[in-house]
Amino acid sequence: MWSASSGVSVRLECSPAVPPLSQDLALALFRIVQESLNNIAKYAGARTVRIALDAEADWLCLTIEDDGVGIAPEVLEKPRSHGIIGMNQRCAQFNGEFSVERVAAGAGTRVSARIPLAVARAAKEQGTGPGLA
Ligand SMILES: Nc1ncnc2c1ncn2[C@@H]1O[C@H](COP(=O)(O)OP(=O)(O)OP(=O)(O)O)[C@@H](O)[C@H]1O
Ligand SMILES: [Mg+2]
Repeated sequence: MWSASSGVSVRLECSPAVPPLSQDLALALFRIVQESLNNIAKYAGARTVRIALDAEADWLCLTIEDDGVGIAPEVLEKPRSHGIIGMNQRCAQFNGEFSVERVAAGAGTRVSARIPLAVARAAKEQGTGPGLA
């Protein structure tokens, strides 16, 4: 659907190493993907986007990478708008690390959310977590 309406093709990679996720964490990750795709459709002028979910060492890693124009350096220095700040906050609620960066000059944007696997597992065991809308 999104691919058809935006004209951007999507490659989705989910590693078998990813453990079962709590609803709250799955929703937070979904919201990050959703906002990233919104931004890509609005600003990137990309041809393709790669969405990857992986578990590496002690981290659950979500990456959304496009091959568009690349996010402006001044936005990276001081994000003011809700999209990037909101994604950062969702990640922080799981003690995660969030970053947005240019892949290379004129070669796209990479959004990365990394959640400690221990936190992801604990959230699943408790069946609860931070309340997220
Ligand atoms: N994938 C991208 N490629 C190029 N520029 C981007 C990309 N994602 C974000 N940007 C730039 O970063 C700015 C900030 O993004 P952010 O999502 O925080 O705000 P917004 O989309 O402008 O507004 P909001 O999300 O609050 O509706 C955007 O206005 C845009 O200039
Ligand atoms: Mg936005």
